[in-house]
Amino acid sequence: MAIERVGVIGGGLMGSGIAEVCARAGSDVIVHEIDAKAAEAALERIDGSLARAVDRGKIDEKQRTDIEERITVSTVLEQQSDRQLVIEAATENEDLKKQIFSDLDRLAPREAVLASNTSSIPITRLAAATTRPENVVGMHFFNPVPVLALVELVTTVKTSDTTAEIARAYAEKLGKTVIHAKDRAGFVVNMLLIPYILSAIRMYETGVASAVDIDTGMRLGANHPMGPLELTDFVGLDTTKYVADVLFEEFKEPLYASPPLLTRMVEAGLWGRKSGEGFYRYD
Ligand code: CAA
Ligand code: NAD
Repeated sequence: MAIERVGVIGGGLMGSGIAEVCARAGSDVIVHEIDAKAAEAALERIDGSLARAVDRGKIDEKQRTDIEERITVSTVLEQQSDRQLVIEAATENEDLKKQIFSDLDRLAPREAVLASNTSSIPITRLAAATTRPENVVGMHFFNPVPVLALVELVTTVKTSDTTAEIARAYAEKLGKTVIHAKDRAGFVVNMLLIPYILSAIRMYETGVASAVDIDTGMRLGANHPMGPLELTDFVGLDTTKYVADVLFEEFKEPLYASPPLLTRMVEAGLWGRKSGEGFYRYD
């Protein structure tokens, strides 16, 4: 099945990037958001990213207009009813995602592939909210989606080979390299990345070094593009904590336990770049 019509649920940090790369690859994309304000914010994020691509000479004005014309942002979920592939990228919350998968099951064409971009929630649980678990798969993109070249393809014991192949082929059409992971919380990358981030937060919390020194240490000493605390601000402290909690629930290992500082910062609304303040302030 050649994928031409794609749905994206949630137009936040990830959903807007996913919509952009799908439209850049020629697909017609409908992004679903919860209300007009969130829809407007999604469009602004996509516009901002395309403007950056024009400034950097990656696309010209004509291509930008063509890409923008392929993206619609809507608040009406029924508009997903003709989509061949729907990629769910809503807030990292299991109950919310289960409701979305149940709604998509009711609306989307019978043969449609339903994918989740969840960072950590086992795909099997989302698939169980549908009557077509064989069509459900994880397609885990990385932030910023237009830049980072990886997609983790996550299959459950019920995912059909056809579904996995459609998802893999589509991710490759987007120019991504695909790795395959079994359906365990955190898949491959976050199972490794989250304990690293949590260790850095514990190091900061216990006063071993300042945030700037921890980040400088990993940027210059290990050649990472961002230090771990900058990266946490970039990913979102809310998402980071949610992912850590899911990993802790699955494996019961202390290395996945959210440090008290992370929990308090999330409770205080210090969610990183998206809220204007996390370990650093953003104007
Ligand atoms: N959207 C689109 N393009 C962007 C972008 C964005 N938000 N941010 C940067 N870019 C592009 C720029 O246009 C630029 O492209 P060219 O070099 O082709 O011109 C390139 O990325 C580099 O940008 P900059 O020079 O402005 O900045 P930089 O060199 O500091 O790189 C970065 C920025 C790409 C974000 C880099 O710092 C980086 O890779 N950081 C680490 C990101 C990371 O680890 N992400 C994974 C998070 S974990 C995750 O996603 C999984 C999960 O489930 C939580
Ligand atoms: P975000 O907070 O930036 O965006 C979430 C969006 O979902 C918001 O715009 C919100 O309005 C929308 N939303 C909430 N409920 C919805 C509903 N019922 N229908 C439609 N939209 C709804 O979060 P994000 O960082 O984009 O994360 C989205 C998903 O991607 C999560 O599952 C997260 O774990 C995953 N993810 C995040 C990152 C990252 O670095 N932030 C990386 C990879 C994967």
